[in-house]
Amino acid sequence: MKIIEATDYKDMSKIAADYIIQKVNQSPKIKLGLATGGTPMGIYSNLIADHKKNGTSYQAVTTFNLDEYVGLSGDNPNSYRYYMNDNLFNHIDIQKNNTFVPRGTVGDVVKECESYEDLLTKHKGIDLQILGIGANGHIGFNEPGTSFHSQTHVVQLAPSTRQANARFFSSLEEVPTKAITMGIATIMKSKEILLLVSGEVKKEALKRLLTENVDEKFPASVLKNHPCVTIIADKAAIAGLKVHS
Ligand code: PGA
Repeated sequence: MKIIEATDYKDMSKIAADYIIQKVNQSPKIKLGLATGGTPMGIYSNLIADHKKNGTSYQAVTTFNLDEYVGLSGDNPNSYRYYMNDNLFNHIDIQKNNTFVPRGTVGDVVKECESYEDLLTKHKGIDLQILGIGANGHIGFNEPGTSFHSQTHVVQLAPSTRQANARFFSSLEEVPTKAITMGIATIMKSKEILLLVSGEVKKEALKRLLTENVDEKFPASVLKNHPCVTIIADKAAIAGLKVHS
């Protein structure tokens, strides 16, 4: 894993966005794997600013999101479909029918997982996946203990994850208890992965990632088995850790 140290959140977001922009310009038909939550917000605002200023085009880009809450429809402001539209898709020239987010309100969520996995296979996989990390090491919504062989599936969210995400809802009770997530094997099929780590709150997770063995108890550790991972971490997350980049 290659590690890039950024000064702060803003710098981390800019470095990641510049990297993505360069990839989109090189390969206009790139298939991007996207993430939600607090971490990638700054990347998306940089992509929008660049699109407006420099005209980087997303006309031929296809995107696949990592996850979605079960029970929230795309017009619910807390759904990840809404987040993506609001924070990125509505502000660039991407074709909405080339943007895929698992659907959390279909009758049969298990079937939705299978269809999502089939869709990824049909598109021959993701070229560049953006990832955040949970304080407990989750990637996507793959909580500790998830099989490294997992494909897109329905998960029960860990209490700590619901707690961490409650900041986006008006109360903890409103945070859904289940989600659809790409599995760990699904994520690992991406040709390249960018992992963003920001803030003191992620320091312990980053330390564990860099120092512990590959183990299903700490999902992000699987990334050590991937041939092309770049971690971009800010000072608050990486300070004091011994890193060999
Ligand atoms: P965050 O979430 O970006 O909101 O911190 C990351 C994650 O839980 O994967």
